[in-house]
Amino acid sequence: MNTIAVLTSGGDAPGMNACVRAVVRTGAACGLRVIGFRHGFAGLMAGEQILLDPRAVANIIQRGGTFLGTSRSPEFKTVDGRRKAIEVLKSAGADGLIVIGGEGSFHGAQDLIQESGIRAVGIPGTIDNDLYGTDFSIGFDTAVNTALEAIDRIRDTAASHERLFFVEVMGHRTGFLALEVGLAGGAEAVVVPEVPTDPEQLCKILSESRSRGKSSSIVVVAEGEAPGFAFTLADQVRSGVEMESRVVILGHIQRGGPPTARDRVLASRLGAAAVETLAGGRTGVMVGEVNNTMALTPLPETWKKKKDLDRSRLALVGTLAV
Ligand code: F6P
Repeated sequence: MNTIAVLTSGGDAPGMNACVRAVVRTGAACGLRVIGFRHGFAGLMAGEQILLDPRAVANIIQRGGTFLGTSRSPEFKTVDGRRKAIEVLKSAGADGLIVIGGEGSFHGAQDLIQESGIRAVGIPGTIDNDLYGTDFSIGFDTAVNTALEAIDRIRDTAASHERLFFVEVMGHRTGFLALEVGLAGGAEAVVVPEVPTDPEQLCKILSESRSRGKSSSIVVVAEGEAPGFAFTLADQVRSGVEMESRVVILGHIQRGGPPTARDRVLASRLGAAAVETLAGGRTGVMVGEVNNTMALTPLPETWKKKKDLDRSRLALVGTLAV
């Protein structure tokens, strides 16, 4: 193996830069030439290639986003699109590809492997933390802390005006982000897609906490299928609660900003492990961290097997909201 390629794909996540840095510098330590493709799979198909030597990744460990750029590419989902990508990789002399991204990106990597025989390894990079095979994905910890900072601020105004706030966080059909943020932020309740929403029950929880003397409340709502679900929920609950309410959608603010120490460390470890995995001859796996140990999971398992939401944490939110 002489040359490996790396790209970032799907939604950007804080820590992706730290991860590319780790890939490039571990590659150099192993005597490999490392090339990067800009703009995810779209840039791969278009041959947007850059040489990444150790100096090319200086001063990026602390930067949010991805300096390589990223995309969600409909064309790469087609056989023709992937054929273009395979030609580009072959003419670049790439012996292997590292894909940093989420579920959609891993589907693409798996298709590429099956159609070309090119070796590829995935690294979990998504604020959603919804991939099976890793306790944490790169960007999750930063997104939790960013949302938490916003909630702490919202709490100030909620308390001052004695209001109820519905705060919607991202998470793409899963409640990992919402649950972590809700528990850390002292929410009255957390609404996640994994548990059927019961507006009447939520009204009851909020009314009872009001009668126990609480003058303001925060409900953390996972976006679920589409952004804006918190508005629907607030409409269903509002008339049953004697408190003025507001809805805040945190949106893309959760994806930006410098990565936390935890994300930088995770990104560095996973980036190095991915290079070693490729150099060791493996393909079609995601490198993850399970119980603080590096773990390899076949790419299809990362989306076919479902990571469990910790229900005991959900119950704890209720217990601590008395
Ligand atoms: O997968 C990351 C994520 O931020 C999800 O939480 C969210 O649903 C989605 O991406 C938003 O995607 P886009 O930036 O394309 O609107």
